[in-house]
Amino acid sequence: MAASMAATMWSTLLRIQSGLTISGSGLTQSCIHTSAMMERSRNWEMKNKVVYPPQLPEEPQRPAEIYHCRKQIKYSKDKMWYLAKLIRGMSIDQAIAQLEFNDKKGAKIMKEVLLEAQDLAVRNHNVEYKSNLYVAQSFSNKGKYLKRIRYHGRGMFGIMDKVYCHYYVKLVEGPPPPKEPPVTGFDQAKEYVQQLRNRTIIHSL
Ligand SMILES: *[C@@H]1O[C@H](CO)[C@@H](O)[C@H](O)[C@H]1NC(C)=O
Repeated sequence: MAASMAATMWSTLLRIQSGLTISGSGLTQSCIHTSAMMERSRNWEMKNKVVYPPQLPEEPQRPAEIYHCRKQIKYSKDKMWYLAKLIRGMSIDQAIAQLEFNDKKGAKIMKEVLLEAQDLAVRNHNVEYKSNLYVAQSFSNKGKYLKRIRYHGRGMFGIMDKVYCHYYVKLVEGPPPPKEPPVTGFDQAKEYVQQLRNRTIIHSL
């Protein structure tokens, strides 16, 4: 529903723009303020359209990147975050398996989004094997909330939010990179002390 609305809005925008260019009068495109509207939606999926310069023969093959998202999911962004964090850096099969056996509502939605992205990878991005992908980025953020009245006693009321969220994922072709070892507090302290020792103290002995 939301997706189709966004699609119609997008096509309307395009029509407005093309109408302006065709009419070719003194009007410039900037007289209609569309930039904010275009920025609000579609930015993530627009990254799919990036065209890189041709590679030299000796360069390693650039892996395919697939950006996919779903907007206005009827779920909390904070609950979604735990799931998004869970699958970061996993191979696509592992991620789907983990979500399959997770009981949260968001897991089902996220699995759908991943499967869509996998399908897009094979159909639009020249990925040969659909299992040869990993989750490079995965995060959620706040959607547009609806406000509703919550009735209290004594004629008082509060305002409650009907929460929505967006979920974004980036898949990259290839096996998942090895996990970096976690940085401990001791490592950080060592680095900090090294930084202090690296200083050049002027006018000292
Ligand atoms: C301190 O200096 C050394 C050698 O000059 C350098 O290798 C190291 O990265 C520096 N450390 C920090 C924390 O700046």
